[in-house]
Amino acid sequence: MPTSTDARPVLDEAPTTESFRTAVLTGLQKTQKRIPSKFLYDERGSELFDRICELDEYYPTRTEMGIMRRNIDAMAETIGPRTRLVEYGSGSSLKTRILLDHLEDLASYVPVDISKDHLAAAADALAEDYPAIPVQPVCADYTTSFELPDPPLPAACTVAYYPGSTIGNFRRDDARAFLERVARTVGEDGGLLIGVDLKKDVDVLKAAYDDSEGVTAAFTKNLLRRMNRELDATFDLEAFEHQVVWNADRGCIESHLRSTTAQTVSVAGETVEFEEGETIHTEDSHKYTLDGFAALANKAGFEVSRVWTDDRSYFSVQYCTVGA
Ligand code: AVJ
Repeated sequence: MPTSTDARPVLDEAPTTESFRTAVLTGLQKTQKRIPSKFLYDERGSELFDRICELDEYYPTRTEMGIMRRNIDAMAETIGPRTRLVEYGSGSSLKTRILLDHLEDLASYVPVDISKDHLAAAADALAEDYPAIPVQPVCADYTTSFELPDPPLPAACTVAYYPGSTIGNFRRDDARAFLERVARTVGEDGGLLIGVDLKKDVDVLKAAYDDSEGVTAAFTKNLLRRMNRELDATFDLEAFEHQVVWNADRGCIESHLRSTTAQTVSVAGETVEFEEGETIHTEDSHKYTLDGFAALANKAGFEVSRVWTDDRSYFSVQYCTVGA
């Protein structure tokens, strides 16, 4: 049995506490206070996110899994053999298993995640269950540039896997810049298999991001705990609430932490004032139409070559190739 001392090596390019401190102090000085959503995923945040994925109201995970299961043979054929599969933001790699089960003769699986222990545990579990597949974890903030490990044997091509509609966490121009970088990484023979959540009834969307059990609220508030722990902050968790807004202009669900009272908080030695009702914007979850996503992909140098969806058209899984 693997123990924590003989765990497989994780290529470590993890972000530092310093980058968290800088992002928080910069973000809390803005008129609309904001903190980048990637900081929601510390160990506890990653665990809470796994619980969100099991909620009735959070349809994306279940819907995406259904699409994967129903179309996996076509997906495997589209992707082809001897691929180096790189997953951005792999988390627990729950959706990846279906790909590992069906892709022919994988050259390697490279899970990339910001949360190191979570990544190492997931990589160990996969390596044990898939002894024939080289698993090469990389701990990195994939929104910055990082090195990809070479597979033990040369790959036919590199395919990026970006499930969960995590692309929705980028503003549209940042999404384009990110996709451009992915296109350069996979190159001309490569591809991108991506999960993209689609526009739908606003009540369905709001319930997905503000569940009745309060798991999403705990996930968002965990950011306050993290600042208290890592940045010596003095946030009172009872004095903030999780708030979800549909922004029709931008086509996204916005998550906020709303101060229920006027208060002063200390963060990393700095003083931060909140008015009653003032919020910290913690996350955007953009929703796309199929045409809207195709246009974005094209701007980034991708061609959408296949689209799979569910019978309610809630979610899509799309295969993009790099246009010549
Ligand atoms: C899977 C990271 C894209 O925005 O739907 C879920 C994150 N936040 N509930 C999403 C999330 C609150 C999720 N991502």
